[in-house]
Amino acid sequence: MTEQAATGTVTITLDGTNKSTTIKLIDGTIGPSVADIRKLYSDLGIFTYDPGYGGTAACDSKITYIDGDEGILLHRGYPIEQLAEQSTFLEVAHLLLNGELPNAAEKKEFEDGVMRHTMVHEQIRSMYQGFRRDAHPMAVMCGVVGALSAFYHDSLDITNPDHRRISAFRLIAKVPTIAAWAYKYSIGQPFMYPRNDLGYAENFLYMMNAVPAEPYHVNPILARAMDRIMILHADHEQNASTSTVRLSGSTGANPFACIAAGIASLWGPAHGGANEAVLKMLAEIGTVENVKPFLDQVKDKNSHSRLMGFGHRVYKNFDPRAKIMAATCHEVLGELGIKNDPMLDLAIELERIALSDDYFIARKLYPNVDFYSGIILKAMGIPTSMFTVLFAVARTVGWISQWKEMIEDPSQRIGRPRQVYTGAPQRDFVPLDKRG
Ligand code: CMC
Repeated sequence: MTEQAATGTVTITLDGTNKSTTIKLIDGTIGPSVADIRKLYSDLGIFTYDPGYGGTAACDSKITYIDGDEGILLHRGYPIEQLAEQSTFLEVAHLLLNGELPNAAEKKEFEDGVMRHTMVHEQIRSMYQGFRRDAHPMAVMCGVVGALSAFYHDSLDITNPDHRRISAFRLIAKVPTIAAWAYKYSIGQPFMYPRNDLGYAENFLYMMNAVPAEPYHVNPILARAMDRIMILHADHEQNASTSTVRLSGSTGANPFACIAAGIASLWGPAHGGANEAVLKMLAEIGTVENVKPFLDQVKDKNSHSRLMGFGHRVYKNFDPRAKIMAATCHEVLGELGIKNDPMLDLAIELERIALSDDYFIARKLYPNVDFYSGIILKAMGIPTSMFTVLFAVARTVGWISQWKEMIEDPSQRIGRPRQVYTGAPQRDFVPLDKRG
């Protein structure tokens, strides 16, 4: 860990003993101070308890900052609103990976570097035949991305900066190809090879939608919208999938395996699977009249249902990405000439009612990035099962940036949380004939 200025200390005394310890506070650039509890066990013989890690900083990072109370998201200091409006996905990728926005020469070099790696080893094509056609594309993603480590042996030495750089390029470049092929396989269409003369998002839309039998022109407004959606998903600090990537990487596992672990973690409906779940939920609600009964159900703890696309562990205010996503949604629907989309109308009404409901107000539950993304993606012709895949494509940049930062941190150790053991105390083995 880089040396931080200690702004203060906290002294903890263990009741009923004469043991005490002084805990240093560490300051980040912005955000709350954190208590450095690393000596707690050696000094007092106790661990901290924080299931879900809601109050625990597991690393220091220069990549992304979130102020959940104010609804602020910064990448390397730049507000997400400015990046979404003025930057491109590959520029943001450079920013996340390397710390700065590229100048013109660096931008070209970076874009060429990524786009030259878009093809996958030809043998990877045959891997798809091993999957059922009705496999969820996230299942295919977990398998094929993890398998990249079986093909690219020349970039697996994580101690070598060149290997790390090439692996990052390979992952950012190949994940869209793998994702688009997962879709093509599910619908029985020929795989489209990447086109390096297209932009990153444009090429992804091309590989998803084109067929070899005829020319295909990607609508530039939709390509720009897709690029923006990717920017909004590029990184989000130490969320579940990023923490999974860091934890996997802390063992020295290769980056392809680590990103496959991140994809698995992203799949769940509480995380990246929420955009798919939002559309299913809207379809189930069906009409505006059903919104109230649906919300009553969500508020009933016994129903175990949630308003998908609402709430966030860190944001206790509007998710800034949700605001940009809502604006992009209107733009995309306008471009596609969709004047009245019943699903969008339903989502707007659902949001309005939820935001004025005491249950959601008291718990500070606001729309998150996934509330509107599904509606845009559906309008763009992306099938529902590909929504989380698209999230994974964009988040690969954040995962590999966080992985690289961790590997380059000299104080990095294997991640290894402790536990409160609540099982049986030590007891003697009982032979089978003596068990009741
Ligand atoms: N609908 C209804 N109630 C909710 C919701 C929701 N979406 N989210 C939280 N709550 C309630 C929860 O029941 C609890 O109530 P109470 O205090 O009465 O027990 C309270 O709000 C606090 O919830 P929590 O479960 O402690 O919050 P958390 O920080 O553990 O969970 C979350 C965060 C995102 C998993 C959760 O809000 C959720 O399940 N949301 C729906 C799924 C979703 O949209 N996920 C996408 C997250 S953004 C994209 C990403 O990062 O992947």
